[in-house]
Amino acid sequence: MATHGRNLNDVVTRFWTIAAPLYDHPSLQQWVYRPAQDEVIDELRAHGARRIADIACGTGILAARIADELAPDEIYGVDMSDGMLRQARARSPQVDWRKGPAEQLPFDDGALDAVVSTSAFHFFDQPKAMREFHRVLRPGGLAAVATISPPQLPLLGRLTSSLSSAAHNPSAQEMRTLFTDAGFTIVDQRRVDRPLWTKGVWDLITIGETA
Ligand SMILES: C[S@@+](CC[C@H](N)C(=O)[O-])C[C@H]1O[C@@H](n2cnc3c(N)ncnc32)[C@H](O)[C@@H]1O
Repeated sequence: MATHGRNLNDVVTRFWTIAAPLYDHPSLQQWVYRPAQDEVIDELRAHGARRIADIACGTGILAARIADELAPDEIYGVDMSDGMLRQARARSPQVDWRKGPAEQLPFDDGALDAVVSTSAFHFFDQPKAMREFHRVLRPGGLAAVATISPPQLPLLGRLTSSLSSAAHNPSAQEMRTLFTDAGFTIVDQRRVDRPLWTKGVWDLITIGETA
């Protein structure tokens, strides 16, 4: 696991605050980030979640889509980066945007039906974040985490070398262990379906439920 703590969180926050304006480029979104977000929305719809948080929401594309497409009772977007949150706030007034780390979520115990996270889990203190996901979910709550592997994106890997060396991309088995150690039952785990031209990007979605 990556060494973690204030330092990694500081580096990550600074990087994404600077990178925020580039992040919404339509090709980057459509080819790299959207496929996992589509699958997360399908999972939320099937579960019937009404109180949902997107953790490490970035510029808020997924949380805003959840608001538009699922019309939940409560939708939150949580991130540590001021730059990303600034763009998120401009994107949608329907989402309650909150600043905070995945390892210390700004929610009461059992406050949510579902927690989702895409393309950010490699930055987290993973056991701590999974315990937080479990804490904030009601019994029968859903966690859906999609992971992406930066080493298979050479250009992005170079741009983010200080981040990717500190970050850790868990294997499928490690994800299952992280979920079960935090108290989740695994419901599903699968590769994210991608368009042909981005099939080289390695994506995994793991879905768990609280007892
Ligand atoms: C690649 S972006 C992904 C954004 C969004 N989830 C998506 O799929 O488009 C990674 C985001 O993770 C956030 N992040 C990284 N580590 C975090 C942590 N420990 N807690 C909260 N946010 C974090 C960064 O600030 C950044 O906005």
